Amino acid sequence: MPTSTSSQAVVEVENLCVSYGTDDDEHRVLDGVDVWVEDGAVLCIVGGSGCGKSTLLKTIIGLVSPKSGQVRLLGEPMHELPESEQARLLKRVGVMFQYGALLNSLTVGENVALPLQMHTELAADYVDDLVRTRLELVGLGGTVNLLPSELSGGMRKRAALARAMSLEPEILFCDEPGAGLDPETAAGIDRLLLSLNDQLGMGIVVVTHELLSIDRLNGDLIMLDAGRVAYDGTVTDARQSSLEGLKRFFHPDSTNAGSAG
Ligand SMILES: Nc1ncnc2c1ncn2[C@@H]1O[C@H](COP(=O)(O)OP(=O)(O)OP(=O)(O)O)[C@@H](O)[C@H]1O
Ligand SMILES: [Mg+2]
Repeated sequence: MPTSTSSQAVVEVENLCVSYGTDDDEHRVLDGVDVWVEDGAVLCIVGGSGCGKSTLLKTIIGLVSPKSGQVRLLGEPMHELPESEQARLLKRVGVMFQYGALLNSLTVGENVALPLQMHTELAADYVDDLVRTRLELVGLGGTVNLLPSELSGGMRKRAALARAMSLEPEILFCDEPGAGLDPETAAGIDRLLLSLNDQLGMGIVVVTHELLSIDRLNGDLIMLDAGRVAYDGTVTDARQSSLEGLKRFFHPDSTNAGSAG
């Protein structure tokens, strides 16, 4: 791994340990995790359900405090910053949470407009235009005046993605963006992520279980297992890897699947 002084990393996680629960009843989820995301990279994070993928994302963006270890986001020590500095840093970061997390009392358009209104001085007309463009990009043109409760689960996810990219962040974190979507919509989301990466140089970090999506994104991959990074490399190399966890992941139906721990 490169040294942490390089300016080329958008995320540097070093020896990260995260626990839930009390000291007496500690549940260690991450136990010495190292992650390095280069500027403009595409990274997929995989691993079994409950292995800590969402926890890792939440710790990187400051929502969960580490027990120990370092997190640098866009070159800054996230957890050592005062709240106001964290907020300033997070304006440069887009996040699409696993369960959408739209505000239910606001329309879809108002949800997408929120970051623009909070963090920019753009005129209302311009914000409206941007909101419509963003919604069209995720295939939700025409939903601007609907409430989140009037959308399907997949549409809510796409609206959350439109909101996450509304400020054209330098890095975009997406937790299971394709889960629950029909194959065509999921492929469309991947194309959109790749075009954001390609045209704006946006770093993309995606938690996903979807093999098709991992192949389409075709960037770097890490696999979490038992609180640690079990694999760190490219998707291409991961497919050839002899690591049992990766073999099971990429070939879940093969005869050896499940035979090794
Ligand atoms: N706020 C919390 N309080 C206590 N325990 C939590 C909390 N959030 C997560 N956990 C626990 O931490 C572990 C990791 O959860 P996490 O949501 O990070 O997993 P994940 O890899 O994202 O799983 P999935 O693929 O199902 O989304 C789980 O055992 C979970 O029960
Ligand atoms: Mg999760």
